[in-house]
Amino acid sequence: MRKVYLDHNATTPVHPEVKQAVAPYLSEMFGNPSSIHWAGRDVRKAVEDARQEIASFFVCQPLEIVLTSSGTESDNLALKGVAFRKGNAGKHIVTSAVEHPAVMNTCRFLEAQGFRVTYVPVNRYGIVEPESVRKAIEKDTILVSIMYANNETGCIMPIEEIGCIAREAEILMHTDAVQATGKIPIDWKSFPVDLLTFSGHKINGLKGAGGLIVRKGIELEAVLHGGHQERGRRGGTENVVGIVGMGKAFSLLRTGMEEEVRETRRLRDRFEKALFDRIPELVLNGHPAERLPNTVNISFRFVEGEALLLNLDMMGIACSSGSACTSGSLEASPILMAMGADPTDAQGALRFSLGMGNTDEDIDYSVDAVEAVVGKLRAMSPIYPREAKVR
Ligand SMILES: Cc1ncc(COP(=O)(O)O)c(C=O)c1O
Repeated sequence: MRKVYLDHNATTPVHPEVKQAVAPYLSEMFGNPSSIHWAGRDVRKAVEDARQEIASFFVCQPLEIVLTSSGTESDNLALKGVAFRKGNAGKHIVTSAVEHPAVMNTCRFLEAQGFRVTYVPVNRYGIVEPESVRKAIEKDTILVSIMYANNETGCIMPIEEIGCIAREAEILMHTDAVQATGKIPIDWKSFPVDLLTFSGHKINGLKGAGGLIVRKGIELEAVLHGGHQERGRRGGTENVVGIVGMGKAFSLLRTGMEEEVRETRRLRDRFEKALFDRIPELVLNGHPAERLPNTVNISFRFVEGEALLLNLDMMGIACSSGSACTSGSLEASPILMAMGADPTDAQGALRFSLGMGNTDEDIDYSVDAVEAVVGKLRAMSPIYPREAKVR
């Protein structure tokens, strides 16, 4: 059976050159980068070279990068690090209603610690409007945290405008750029943001490596207390394999990102157009244009997204639905609900996210499969209007 991977926003395949680059660090290059003897020195150099690669990609200083285990850890470090360091100056944080759980649940934790959080709503396209952020800012706001691009819809937030609002108010600005990294060019020098989260496994690196860019001069409370690694900002022996892999992934992006974005967008647009041309009663979730080039989220009306996902899985196609199974019933995606989507439509939503390795043949196969499965499920659906054409 053909296998088609259309879930790159969940994770990406490891680039062959990444695999090659990390191989020595799984064998002879095993030293601890903190050791000052020969076994540690070369490994330290590899970690610092990787940091330099990442810094060159973002055009930031290597020392501004804190290497972590994941996007989740970086989000935790940004939010808790600011909250616990600046808690005396203020107890209020502004974020959005569509953040990833790594930000959302950290905010809930901080609320339990006595902080107040405003969850700014999004418009019907799933985009945070800068004016809503401006209105949410209070006298004691210490941090604004708004994601750069949403993982479910791919919607791109006006981060530069929001960052300028935070700057004007002299409030720190964090953005979770886990999904945006490698798809939207970022120039840290002119970017009005103080803290930026990225993750290695979303850019064809390895799982278990991520980072937080912290603008020079900003002090954070550490979340992981331990040794002096990462200049005391994150204790723990570095995940050398993950970091070397992430450095390689960033160096590949520096030369290949433009072409990769162009090709992914071409395939995504072809996929999206074919689905809308051939299947009736579809709703595009998210903004038609202000969206990552690889993501399309569609509600297949009169069909349950989960049933569609499982049927496509049986045909070798991997994609994702934002709904969660709670106590045996399906809950529609909170992201789509925050956008004001019809709850039944939201339950019929699927996210397809493309990336390295996808081909025109994958798209042809997937469009045929989706059309066939939607037709089958609608034919069995008691809610599908019979006068509509069953396909
Ligand atoms: C927007 C966003 N933030 C954070 C994360 C968490 O990243 P990681 O899997 O590296 O912990 C993800 C992962 O899906 C994400 O999409």
